[in-house]
Amino acid sequence: MIKIEHLYKSFDGNEVFREISLEITKGHVLALIGRSGCGKSVLLKHVAGLIKPEKGRVVVNGKDMGIAKGKALAALRDRFGFLFQGGALFDSMNVFENVAFPLNEKTRLSHKVIQERVLKELENVGLSGSEYKYPSQISGGMVKRAALARALVGDPEIMLFDEPTTGLDPVTGHAIIELIDSCHRRLHFTGIIVTHEITKVFSIVDRVAMLHEGVIWAEGTPSEVFSSKDPVVRAFVGEEEE
Ligand SMILES: Nc1ncnc2c1ncn2[C@@H]1O[C@H](COP(=O)(O)OP(=O)(O)OP(=O)(O)O)[C@@H](O)[C@H]1O
Ligand SMILES: [Mg+2]
Repeated sequence: MIKIEHLYKSFDGNEVFREISLEITKGHVLALIGRSGCGKSVLLKHVAGLIKPEKGRVVVNGKDMGIAKGKALAALRDRFGFLFQGGALFDSMNVFENVAFPLNEKTRLSHKVIQERVLKELENVGLSGSEYKYPSQISGGMVKRAALARALVGDPEIMLFDEPTTGLDPVTGHAIIELIDSCHRRLHFTGIIVTHEITKVFSIVDRVAMLHEGVIWAEGTPSEVFSSKDPVVRAFVGEEEE
């Protein structure tokens, strides 16, 4: 489970988080929404231990991500899968090598086992046949799918998705969301999806949290947030609906 307690963070005196408290039950997926610049990516980076809290704590599966350092932090992070915003693939590696990378780096699995796992993962995201293509030779949607395969290949317990559908056409974007959903059903990871794709993402998540002015402005089930009467939530959800 992911537990964020009284998180405070500022950059050069600008407060990004005034007081963030949020809990994500093990095996649940939360959609994190909010305007551009409100701190969604910064929050994910705190969960991953890439940014340390100024005040407060981030606890993932009982471990304080703000305290862990070096090898201990690396070991915690090995249980994570990330799909970073704008994060693509390593250009100098083909699709197969990209997806194999975490297993080659972090495990001592045999060449044969890695090969099997990578091919299976690529099949899961519908990329069989594109293993030996380079990122420049495939479409944006395929890059995202390959990045998803790379994030999932280590069977992560925690998955963080930062705008997984940005820059994709609606059909491809929806396919990615469905892929995330089917991976979740298979792997039961605990996850956060940062998104602007309200309607589609709300249909696959357990909870929704809206970040606004440094606090969790609204939190609840997708239908609760969708039917909220709060003007800030309405403006956001209504606007995104169009
Ligand atoms: N490393 C950093 N140093 C200084 N300021 C930062 C840093 N990272 C983020 N910020 C600031 O923190 C705020 C939140 O940024 P963040 O990237 O989390 O926004 P976001 O909600 O993810 O926006 P978007 O929807 O556009 O991706 C912004 O004002 C940004 O400029
Ligand atoms: Mg962001």
